Amino acid sequence: MSTQDTSAKAGQLAINGENTQMPVRSGTIGPDVVDITSLYKATGCFTYDPGFTSTANCRSKITYIDGDKGTLLYRGYPIEQLSEKSSFLEVCYLLLNGELPNSGQFDQFERTITNHTMVHEQMMRFFTGYRRDAHPMAIMVGTVGALSAFYHDSTDINDPAQRILASHRMIAKMPTIAAMAFKYSLGQPFIYPRNELDYASNFMRMCFALPCEDYRVDPIVSRALDRIFILHADHEQNASTSTVRLAGSSGANPFACVAAGIACLWGPAHGGANEAALNMLEEIGSVERIPEYIAKAKDKDDPFRLMGFGHRVYKNYDPRARVMQKTCHEILDLMGVKDEPLLKIAMELERIALQDEYFVEKRLYPNVDFYSGITLRAIGFPVAMFTVLFAVARTVGWIAQWKEMIEDPEQRIGRPRQLYIGDDKRDVLPLEQR
Ligand code: CMC
Repeated sequence: MSTQDTSAKAGQLAINGENTQMPVRSGTIGPDVVDITSLYKATGCFTYDPGFTSTANCRSKITYIDGDKGTLLYRGYPIEQLSEKSSFLEVCYLLLNGELPNSGQFDQFERTITNHTMVHEQMMRFFTGYRRDAHPMAIMVGTVGALSAFYHDSTDINDPAQRILASHRMIAKMPTIAAMAFKYSLGQPFIYPRNELDYASNFMRMCFALPCEDYRVDPIVSRALDRIFILHADHEQNASTSTVRLAGSSGANPFACVAAGIACLWGPAHGGANEAALNMLEEIGSVERIPEYIAKAKDKDDPFRLMGFGHRVYKNYDPRARVMQKTCHEILDLMGVKDEPLLKIAMELERIALQDEYFVEKRLYPNVDFYSGITLRAIGFPVAMFTVLFAVARTVGWIAQWKEMIEDPEQRIGRPRQLYIGDDKRDVLPLEQR
């Protein structure tokens, strides 16, 4: 980790009439941070920031977002260029290693990932323990955590070679596990990976092939899926990534940490939003009912929100949503479902919301999840698989961030403090006196 983030700047904090100097640190781009690590020692105060709206929890070289401009960079490269000019596996290499691979490096990386796509045969038994109607994200949380029981030679986090092996295994096995969760829900046999296929095509085949007939992956569809994976690969310190970092900060093994990330991703405010957005479009059902739902979203007394709208960081159009919208049109054209009614509802909803004072004032724009559901459904995935696909793509981000944390000498166990608002100290009365 370079030391370019240290700075001679200092900030003055006046607390309880006392002035305290805190160092201010600058990154390559983005806002400076006030380094408050000595605040408690100096003043006896903690900071209070539920939801971490003003708190940087780490320094990182991986991903940069400018929410006002709508910029997303992986290792400095704009998401628009990466999704146009590179493959998901190239992006995986980039996120893990810091540079895009040359062709020799890429061939070797692809071979390594391909060699790890199978899961231990005994893992199959885990699946049969679940009900057939289990949500595939429930299966993902359990089975990915269970990887730590199978791959003991890659759970020593202090060994750099084991960290890399665990990273490769996770990227390689996640599509296999996700496809198994899907097949299990359908009551169909698991399909083994095929090493001659690229990452996205292999995943599609494991999801949609049957042992009794040939399955040919459409290269346009697999390229679209590959692009969707690129768009979801990392997003700096979002809730699930912070969960992975926090779990990892105690020294937990990477498989367990990623299982924790999957659990966090499942929530509808995070990765579950793609599923929720599609359900919402179906519930709206027709363009005529859009004003009713816009009114519900604006009503303070109604918990309803426009799913796939708004973002903690983006106060401008989510750059991923732009690429996603284009991909969505491409896929619907290819599938011959240009007139997909849900797309019409989505586009009209977006048009109306972007002109509405409420959404304009609060700077609420479509996020990546707004169009991803329609696209994934057109490809053939059921709604329950949407967040699973997000997890497959985000695995590389989680693991790259986990690795960076382990290798950063500044990182310590994550242990937030609190503002206690419970009872003051009191005595326990015997049961008969209460
Ligand atoms: N519909 C209606 N109002 C909204 C919405 C929405 N989708 N999002 C935010 N608001 C309002 C909110 O009611 C609040 O109003 P007020 O200031 O009057 O109380 C204001 O905008 C700020 O919202 P917030 O909840 O304080 O903002 P946040 O940064 O804590 O939440 C969010 C961000 C993404 C959770 C939120 O915008 C949301 O719930 N969106 C819908 C779910 C969604 O699409 N999530 C996917 C996020 S992108 C993919 C990912 O990260 O996984």
